[in-house]
Amino acid sequence: MANRAASFCFLSCVIVLCLSSVSAVTDDRQDKQVYVVYMGSLPSRVEYTPMSHHMSILQEVTGESSNDGRLVRSYKRSFNGFAARLTPTERERMAKIEGVVSVFPSKKLQIHTTTSWDFMGLKEGKNTKRNLAVESDTIIGVLDTGIWPESESFSDKGFGPPPKKWKGVCSGGANFTCNNKLIGARDYTREGARDSQGHGTHTASTVAGNAVAGASFFGIGNGTARGGVPASRIAAYKVCDSTGCTSEAILSAFDDAIADGVDLISISLGGDDDEASKYEKDTIAIGAFHAMAKGILTVHSGGNSGPNPASVLSVAPWMLTVAASTTNRGFVSKVVLGNGKTLVGKSVNTFDLKGKNYPLVYGEFVEEPEVKGKILVSGYSVSSEIAVASIIKDYLDYASVKPRPLSALSQDDFDYLVSYVNSTKSPQGTVLKTESIYNQIANKVISFSSRGPNTVAVDLLKPDITAPGVEILAAYSPLAPPSTDNSDQRHVKYSVLSGTSMSCPHVAGVAAYVKTFHPQWSPSAIQSAIMTTAWPMNASGTGVASTEFAYGAGHVDPIAALNPGLVYELDKADHIAFLCGLNYTSQTLKLISGEAVTCTGKTLPRNLNYPSMSAKLPGSDSSFTVTFNRTVTNLGTPNSTYKSKIVLNHGSKLSVKVSPSVLSMKSVNEKQAFTVTVTGSGLDPNLPSSANLIWSDGTHNVRSPIVVYTDGY
Ligand SMILES: *[C@@H]1O[C@H](CO)[C@@H](O)[C@H](O)[C@H]1NC(C)=O
Ligand SMILES: *[C@@H]1O[C@H](CO)[C@@H](O)[C@H](O)[C@H]1NC(C)=O
Ligand SMILES: *[C@@H]1O[C@H](CO)[C@@H](O)[C@H](O)[C@H]1NC(C)=O
Ligand SMILES: *[C@@H]1O[C@H](CO)[C@@H](O)[C@H](O)[C@H]1NC(C)=O
Ligand SMILES: *[C@@H]1O[C@H](CO)[C@@H](O)[C@H](O)[C@H]1NC(C)=O
Ligand SMILES: *[C@@H]1O[C@H](CO)[C@@H](O)[C@H](O)[C@H]1NC(C)=O
Ligand SMILES: *[C@@H]1O[C@H](CO)[C@@H](O)[C@H](O)[C@H]1NC(C)=O
Repeated sequence: MANRAASFCFLSCVIVLCLSSVSAVTDDRQDKQVYVVYMGSLPSRVEYTPMSHHMSILQEVTGESSNDGRLVRSYKRSFNGFAARLTPTERERMAKIEGVVSVFPSKKLQIHTTTSWDFMGLKEGKNTKRNLAVESDTIIGVLDTGIWPESESFSDKGFGPPPKKWKGVCSGGANFTCNNKLIGARDYTREGARDSQGHGTHTASTVAGNAVAGASFFGIGNGTARGGVPASRIAAYKVCDSTGCTSEAILSAFDDAIADGVDLISISLGGDDDEASKYEKDTIAIGAFHAMAKGILTVHSGGNSGPNPASVLSVAPWMLTVAASTTNRGFVSKVVLGNGKTLVGKSVNTFDLKGKNYPLVYGEFVEEPEVKGKILVSGYSVSSEIAVASIIKDYLDYASVKPRPLSALSQDDFDYLVSYVNSTKSPQGTVLKTESIYNQIANKVISFSSRGPNTVAVDLLKPDITAPGVEILAAYSPLAPPSTDNSDQRHVKYSVLSGTSMSCPHVAGVAAYVKTFHPQWSPSAIQSAIMTTAWPMNASGTGVASTEFAYGAGHVDPIAALNPGLVYELDKADHIAFLCGLNYTSQTLKLISGEAVTCTGKTLPRNLNYPSMSAKLPGSDSSFTVTFNRTVTNLGTPNSTYKSKIVLNHGSKLSVKVSPSVLSMKSVNEKQAFTVTVTGSGLDPNLPSSANLIWSDGTHNVRSPIVVYTDGY
């Protein structure tokens, strides 16, 4: 992959950059493989020493007196367990040891890629409300490919010492220095925490990078690059090297980040199966469960396996799952023909042909000497190293960085170009450098963004929210080629990437922003505030790709999220009752929560007190009645009266009743329950039916999507 030209792997680049491949991490030594031995919560006994326990278990299982080369790492700060090299037989023996909850092979996951903050309404300058004292005490943990510490986005000019609660370290390896902005770094890859791929630098600067004026990618996207909470501190946890991100490293990073005292975790990584893993096999879900139990919200990218239905890879209710959409700024790369016609293509093309016209050569298999000094027109996604530039046909709805002059045209424009070339004696044209345009179809969920429904918990709507994730300019690693072509020799400090990897840190920045005003709010309150205040999206598009399965509650709105009025709260016990409702055995429950729990009560999954409501119904023919029980907490003003309103989406034939339909809240923190009953018949097997419940007191509009659907995906 690494050696292939970007133009050959336009589609597969997305996979490299944004998705994930799950291949077992094998060991050089024969038939031994790295397994995660997960032991749940840490015993509270003071005399318990996890390391020696891990060593003795390992010795017992291997029968070897030394654990040399066997123990890969120990988890001992936020939960219990270790990673070790084991043979298949040893793995079986290990699973039977008392105290061992589960043993699973360490897998490889992959990384999922500025005007975006302005677009969301979080402007720079005095008009934006900021709680700077708390913002400066807020620490964001970023689990990614490391970070470029010298980036101006992470300069500590004007920063005081790290917050007192910080218990982390700076152990980024040789020649890696932290500062009062980048206050911590840990490396789980043996490469050092320095980012050589650009991805981790990009995501960290999007959450919490300083405002850096005049940032651009060769002049493209010129402006101030900044994160959502520029005054906050960053701790970088490098869990990915160039081959991917191992589950055992990810679990270690959660273990450390929680204990180090981060306030929020942003993680733009995931599996590439195109299939969500069950919670007990999902390292990120397990790590995030422990974070949630300690009051830390995990914001996670939904994946780049869209637009197929059921492709969302982040499926747990204790994480905030983010889809990717466009903003009002788009990048185009125009093609101007000898006949004066301009075709608007996509690509991030930094090369300037100065408007000079070159002969156009059309062909799929053109000999190299034929394209010398000319522009190649090709229906394949190939670019020529010999030609002056290439014009290709492409179906993608976003622009990516190219190593050579290139524009990608839609089918119609490409057909026009070919007929121009065919019908003209000496066809000529030129490719212009990329320019920014005002994008008319802003906040549209992009094709690659993973879609619901959720295959693990069919009654839990995922993704939760969408945010800018297309053509995002942010800080980069000068070591990394800006395109996916490793022969690309350009070295840049800022670059343009697209992916749910890029939308995730936008929402993490918003979550941190909300937390700076409400430091006491639970992770679920912050999640609820972000979801119920989202901009409504248009659910009347064609097909599942543009429904709630694409964007969840809608598009994130940072300012509105500060003041949601009512929230839907959840704690650890609620999540456990939800898992019980999914019929998890106590054995499996232990896998996720890390402790022995027996199900006392089961919550029907759709009755989890989640800010969205969703139910999968058995058949499309019959009529149905489905209820959702919810409880809201008043975080607005005392003595407020909320009235319910139902807004049906385009084409929806649902009937929805709310009982009681009015809630009177005397005091702040007061809770009140209500039931939503949805009836209907004849569901479309290929499209979800949806409505919105809005609780309004005249000031706040607390909106939840209601989605029912049936088989057909
Ligand atoms: C440390 O890293 C910086 C940034 O890459 C580089 O400029 C510098 O030469 C390195 N120093 C050493 C001693 O390797
Ligand atoms: C970026 O914008 C600034 C301010 O508008 C301008 O001074 C600067 O020349 C621009 N830089 C590039 C590379 O276009
Ligand atoms: C253009 O010419 C090529 C080669 O002669 C031919 O294969 C192709 O069908 C023509 N295309 C159009 C759109 O005229
Ligand atoms: C939603 O999309 C439909 C179909 O594209 C369009 O007719 C309608 O006007 C849109 N509604 C809004 C509010 O944008
Ligand atoms: C759990 O088990 C109950 C009783 O067997 C069954 O009715 C229900 O459908 C199951 N729930 C799920 C989510 O599988
Ligand atoms: C849902 O709420 C209704 C009305 O309060 C109540 O009768 C019912 O028992 C609740 N169902 C569940 C599963 O909690
Ligand atoms: C709310 O209403 C009660 C009863 O009318 C009143 O005693 C109380 O002062 C009110 N609280 C606020 C904050 O207005």
